[in-house]
This record gives sequence, C-alpha cells and structure tokens, in this order.
Amino acid sequence: MGDGTSETKSSNQMWGGRFAQGPAAIMEEINASIGFDKKLFAQDIRGSIAHATMLAHQGIISADDKDKIVHGLDTILSEIESGQFEFSRRLEDIHMNIEARLATLIGPAAGRLHTARSRNDQVALDFRLWVKEELQKCEGMLTSLIAAFLDRAEEHAETVMPGFTHLQTAQPVTFGHHCMAYVEMFGRDRARVRHAIEHMDESPIGAAALAGTGFPIDRHMTAKALGFREPTRNSIDTVSDRDFALEFLSIASICAVHLSRLAEEIVIWSTPQFGFVRLSDAFSTGSSIMPQKKNPDAAELVRAKTGRINGSLIALLTVMKGLPLAYSKDMQEDKEQVFDSAESLELAIAAMTGMVRDITIRADRMKAAAGSGYSTATDLADWLVREAGLPFRDAHHVTGRAVALAEQKACELAELSLADLQAIHPDITDKVFGVLTVEASVASRTSFGGTAPSEVRKQIAWWRTRN
Ligand code: ARG
Repeated sequence: MGDGTSETKSSNQMWGGRFAQGPAAIMEEINASIGFDKKLFAQDIRGSIAHATMLAHQGIISADDKDKIVHGLDTILSEIESGQFEFSRRLEDIHMNIEARLATLIGPAAGRLHTARSRNDQVALDFRLWVKEELQKCEGMLTSLIAAFLDRAEEHAETVMPGFTHLQTAQPVTFGHHCMAYVEMFGRDRARVRHAIEHMDESPIGAAALAGTGFPIDRHMTAKALGFREPTRNSIDTVSDRDFALEFLSIASICAVHLSRLAEEIVIWSTPQFGFVRLSDAFSTGSSIMPQKKNPDAAELVRAKTGRINGSLIALLTVMKGLPLAYSKDMQEDKEQVFDSAESLELAIAAMTGMVRDITIRADRMKAAAGSGYSTATDLADWLVREAGLPFRDAHHVTGRAVALAEQKACELAELSLADLQAIHPDITDKVFGVLTVEASVASRTSFGGTAPSEVRKQIAWWRTRN
C-alpha cells in the first residue's frame, strides 16, 4: 500500500474513457476485489460462454466472433486452473481480469462480449451460481451427517441415558432418541438448503446495468444454458439484492448453532465427570504438560466457528441495510463473508460427521447416570394417577414426599421399601416397582415422537426413506 497520495500512470483500460488520470493508489486498494473474487473465475467464464453463445444465436454478434470468444475463454480457464494466469489488481476484479486477458488472446472480438451486459448482472450471476453450488454441496454433506446419526441411533435405540432440562437430570431417555433429535435439526437445515436453492434458481444475466437492454437478447436461453429454472423477472431487483447470499448466511448460521450445541454436548459428555463418551484419537488432542488429558479440540473449534458464521450474517445484513436501489459498490463486500462462512460450515459439518461416526458410547456410564437423581419420579406420579386414581397435582405432591424420603435415606426411589411408600400413600402396591426402573420408564413412553425404543425405531425408519 502507498501513502495514499501517489497516482498510477494510466486510467483504467476498461472504463477509463472519460478519466484523464489513473486512480490514487489508495483508491486502487479499496476498490479492488480481485484478491477474493478470483474464486468466481469458473462461474464467470461459464456465464460469458453462455452469454456469447446467446448473442451469436440472436445475431447480435457473428458466429466467428463467438467462436473466438469461446475458444479464448476456454484457454483462460485452463490458464487459471493450472496457476499460470496473472491476476492484476489494477484490473479491479475477476470480470475485468478475464476480459482483459481475452483481448490479449483474441484481439478486438473480445470487446463484443460485453454487449448487452454489465458487470452488475455479471457479478449477480457469478455469485448466485457460486452460492447455489455451495448449497448443493451443503445438502450432500448434511445428508452424510444425518446418515451418521441414523446409524448411531439404530445402534443405541435401547441405550438409556439421562434426559436433561436445565442440565439437571429430568427423565430417562434413550441415546437413540437423543441422536434423532439432531436428525430432526439437521433435517430441517437440509430442507432450508433445498428451499433456498429453489428460491435462487433464477438467472440474473441480461438484466444489464439495471434497466435491461435494447438488444434482442434471449434470457430464457442463457437461463437454460446455465442450469437455472428461469430468468429473473425484474432487472432492477436482479442487480440490487443479495438476499440469496443472506439466505445462505442465515441457513449457515442456524446450522452452525445446531452444530455448536452438539459440540457443547460432546465437550460435556467427554469430561471425566460425565464420562458418557470417549473421543476417538482422530478428533482430540493431548496436552503438552498434562499427560492424562484428551481434549475435545475439534468439538471446541466447531463451537467457535459458529461465531464467525453468525458474525458474517450480521455483517452482510448491515452492508445491505439502507442501500438505495439498484447497484452500489457496497455490495462488493458481500463475497468474503460468504466465502469464509462456507469454508467454516463445510469444515464444521465434516468434523462433526467424523466425530459422530467415531465416538465411543459408554452405555454403562449413561445408564448409571440415568438412574440417579430420581429420574423416574414422574413415572411414580403417573402410576399414582393411573393405578390409584389420584389427580396429577396430588400425585406430584405424594411423589415429592417419596423423593424427600429417599434423599433422607440416601437411596434411589426403587430402593425404598413398600412399607416406606405405603406410609406416604396407602394405595401404593408392589406393582409400582415395575415402573421405577429406567428401562421401564423409557419403554413406557410410546407416545408419537416419544423416547420408547419402539417409537425411536419407527422414527429411524421414517428418516431412512427420506435420507
Ligand atoms: N467487483 C464488483 C462487485 O463485486 C463488480 C460489479 C461492479 N459494478 C460496478 N458498477 N462498478 O460488486
């Protein structure tokens, strides 16, 4: 970076016609996006080939020029892919870098490519194609994560663990049921991804600067060639909005929050105090000073990535708020947020999928914890309602006294004697012991979506046909 006062020699070769001087160095620095939008090279070239082909088909440029353009663009694609292409900051962005190179390669025909288009619809196209492809990738990755959870849920449909509210033991549940909660969350994330793909499946190219064009272009043809369902219907909106990027970031943020909650559970479960799971070596690290330690670094980093992703959503929302229609250069700030979030999200999903597949479940520890903390108190209250005809509020009260007694005797509910229980309520019989075990408790919860193994297996089967 210069001192902000020096000037480059010549004006921009793409739009410099009315400019006598080149930009100040600081202007070049703040204006250039090539440092990050070079990521869009493949989309840019694909869009230009579709545009040139359509221009020739419509008789707007000659077939000969079109052939030169397409051939030149193919050459540029391989130059970039093989790392031979020299990107120039003076040429601002990916669009002008490619067009300038095309001019060097094929001469004056290159100047015909930009007929009936503007960088405004060009960037809207490139970025939308990129986001759409990214969403398709996320859809596949979420499907793998869901599959990993379905396998673990099947394996542990009967494994009992404590269910929590306020992170206090609440009622026994099955680990399979807990896994299926995440299947539901990531299933909704995937549905949001699919919906967003459908939303943004409209081609921007042909909106031109903002008003459309007088050339007889065929936007349906370019839309089809680029794999879009149809062209966008309003040229002003097309170059003005970045809600497709915001939608990606919103979906990524929600998904990252889900991943972060899972990460937090893995962190808690893997502590020696909980000991519900054992992390695989592949997703943990040791300590350089404490030899006994195995740290859940991957889970912690997934938890932290959520901060970046959520921050990007807020950043782009803030960039877009208050922008008058149509295009403003502010919108160039859309890309880094999305690129960074996409990379973070992909890493987080991949790491979690690996962890879910690799993690060792310590069923003995889960079961022991499930039985402590009076987790079957609700089962006792329900039994009093069902078998002794008590109103639930009274049953709740009686159960509270039983819990207090057990606490006093430092034992579990199932360890109280029948005499103890009958002293609290005379209608209690020895049949009550049938509902006080954790297995009986989970097996009884057969309501739709409940934790009973039979119900969990039904939900797994439902998801298997949809994954
Ligand atoms: N690099 C620009 C961006 O990302 C491309 C569009 C430039 N359009 C313009 N009217 N200056 O937004």
